[in-house]
Amino acid sequence: MSTQEERQRIIDVFHRRYATKKFDPTKKISDADWQTIIEAGRLSPSSFGYEPWKFLLIENPEIKEDLKKICWGAINSLNGASHFVIILVTINSPHVKHMVEDVMDVDFDVHSPRSEKFKSFQENDFDLNSDRALFDWASKQTYIPLTNMMTVAAELGIDSCPIEGFNRAKVDKYLADKGIIDPNKFGVSVMLGLGYRDQEQPKKTRQPLDEVLEVIK
Ligand SMILES: Cc1cc2nc3c(=O)[nH]c(=O)nc-3n(C[C@H](O)[C@H](O)[C@H](O)COP(=O)(O)O)c2cc1C
Repeated sequence: MSTQEERQRIIDVFHRRYATKKFDPTKKISDADWQTIIEAGRLSPSSFGYEPWKFLLIENPEIKEDLKKICWGAINSLNGASHFVIILVTINSPHVKHMVEDVMDVDFDVHSPRSEKFKSFQENDFDLNSDRALFDWASKQTYIPLTNMMTVAAELGIDSCPIEGFNRAKVDKYLADKGIIDPNKFGVSVMLGLGYRDQEQPKKTRQPLDEVLEVIK
């Protein structure tokens, strides 16, 4: 059983995290802290364990400048964040084979019970019968590492901003033209700025618990 102090410490981390709009460009995240944040991303769970993601850490200043033109919601992060991450998503079926064979170390067979279950889940349970539906479903998985990374960062005293403010088609094309992604394998899902705040934290507004939680007895 945890103590009240331990519980409060956890809640304080959630109060501390906010979508940082102004980062101090002079403050850099230490490598040890960054490794902890990305490890939290890597260890994140995913549906069926297929990890449909890849993380790009953008350090190149020219690429950051270019991204500002097509990522309106990322300008603050691109200007001052210590680390700028693009989370890619894949719906490419060879990725599933790679996960099963090379990561889970199990023989891949399209007729295995696991494969059949996955197929039925996609086609019947979740109606993932178009590339767009599949993309959105796989993108949902990428928000789990996104969230874990933000929470671990907050725990380490590091600020962050999740980013959906970009033109997806333009960012995909940009990264493909630069040879950074193979557009047949990966697309951009969401982005994340990480660094240190250079502003007062605004008041946190949230719905009260009794509006968002209903107990069904
Ligand atoms: C998925 C997602 C996408 C977001 N995209 C952006 C963005 O592009 N740019 C930005 O400045 N803030 C972005 N935000 C921040 C939200 O506006 C912010 O989290 C929300 O208003 C709640 O405030 P708080 O995080 O400061 O508590 C995004 C948040 C989430 C969860």
